[in-house]
This record gives sequence, structure tokens and C-alpha cells, in this order.
Amino acid sequence: MLDRRSFLVRTGLALGTGALSAGCRPRLRGETAADLQDWRAVRGEFNLSRDYIHLTGFLLASHPRPVREAIETHRRGLDENPANYLHDHGQRLEADVVGAAAEYLAVDPTEIALTDSTTMGLGLLYGGLKLREGQDILTTHHDHYSTATALRLRAERTGASVRAVSLYANPATASEEEVTEAVVRALKPRTRVVAVTWVHSCTGVKLPIRRIVDALAKTQLWRTSAATSSLPARTSGCSARAVRGWCGVSRRRGPPPLP
Ligand SMILES: Cc1ncc(COP(=O)(O)O)c(C=O)c1O
Repeated sequence: MLDRRSFLVRTGLALGTGALSAGCRPRLRGETAADLQDWRAVRGEFNLSRDYIHLTGFLLASHPRPVREAIETHRRGLDENPANYLHDHGQRLEADVVGAAAEYLAVDPTEIALTDSTTMGLGLLYGGLKLREGQDILTTHHDHYSTATALRLRAERTGASVRAVSLYANPATASEEEVTEAVVRALKPRTRVVAVTWVHSCTGVKLPIRRIVDALAKTQLWRTSAATSSLPARTSGCSARAVRGWCGVSRRRGPPPLP
């Protein structure tokens, strides 16, 4: 019987072995890249109104030109012949997404599962935690509602408890040391899961995941695992392999609101 993990990674497996090497792509118009070193060229890729300074790119982002063109190409193809377009391009395009995500995270494509949203991914990940009554999930006050809710529901079903702690007092001055020490200090002998978010949407604080995982490994709580969500701009110092589960936000961010 297909188990949960095999079901989830089926896309990666199928695509990792086959579709990554073959298939035809829909021809996208343009496909010329702007000069990303030039702010005016980057800004020119967006149709954002010039009447405002846009400070909400983290909420809903305007699409830059290449994305607008891709959406238009796929929309037209799907309108003209939905089934053929899906069969001709669906697998190949999913393979492109899985391949890009795997490269970004430095993992094998077969380790990637695509979900409709981060909330769905978190629900699947946290909903599958093997926990018993009396065991403990450690999370933080800085996490998203989706994380808090998925953990609460899992705790209710298993009899485990969820505890949330603060990792820093002031986001502007939060240090790697302060955050790591706060996680380790909050551990209890019955803690089995540490659930944190890499980048906090509310403050912009980016957690030192590698350092936290290394600190956890040094404790006696060898069964503790960490799970994180949020997949923002590429950055160093965070390895997807450092955690047992990772849910990514695929939402594209808007351009910075500079002149
Ligand atoms: C850290 C984090 N978790 C979960 C979510 C929920 O994402 P989605 O709307 O894809 O379910 C978000 C959304 O921004 C987020 O920032």
C-alpha cells in the first residue's frame, strides 16, 4: 500500500526520473531578462502605479513582466485546448518547478512534494507527527496561524501538548545567540518536536536554523526534530537538510519600495 510519504513525493519521483530530461515547453514570449543590476530596469518590469510608494509587497505582489507573459501564454494555451495543453506541458512544467526547488534547497528532486499552499503543506507535515500522550511540541509566539493551528489539532488528536515561547524581546536587536539559547532553554525532557518559522513575516527576523539544529543535536533530546516554514529570498547559512520537514511559501515578493 502507498504510504503517506510515498504519496506526497510521487511528483518528485516521477519527474525526477523521467520528465526532467525530455518534453517540450510552451514558447514564452520575450524570455529576455532585464538588467537586474540596474534599479530602474528592475522597477520598469512592474506595472505598479507610480502614484504610491508600495510597502505591501510582502502581502500580495505585482507580477514582473516575465511572469505576466508566462501567465498570458499558459492562459491562452489552456483556453484554446485545456486537455491537450495539460498533457503536453503539465508534467514538464511541474518538473521545472521541482527541479528549481531542489536546486535552491540543495536536495534531491524526489524529496520535494508540491502542495497547493503552505497551510496545506504544514497541515500534512504536522498532521503526520508521531506523538504520544504526555509528549511535547515546542513552538514560538512568532509563528503563523497555520503553524499554530496545525500543531494544536495534532496535539488534540495525540494527547501531546504544545508550548509557545518568545525567542527574542526586540526584533531589531535579536541575535543568533539570543534566539538559539531561547530554544534550548525551553526544551523539556518530553519535547519531541521543535516547530519554528525561518523568516517571520511580522518582523522580518530570520532564524539561525543551522545553529539551532546544531544546538539541539548537542542536547540529550536526540529525537527532537525541527520543522520550519517559509521559503523567502535565497540566503546562506540555512540548509534544508538541517531540518526534518520544510514547508515553503511560494509567493513571489514584490520589488523593494525604493524611488
Ligand atoms: C510563515 C508562514 N506560514 C504560513 C503562511 C500561509 O501561507 P499560505 O497562504 O500559502 O497557506 C504564510 C503566508 O504568508 C507564512 O508567511
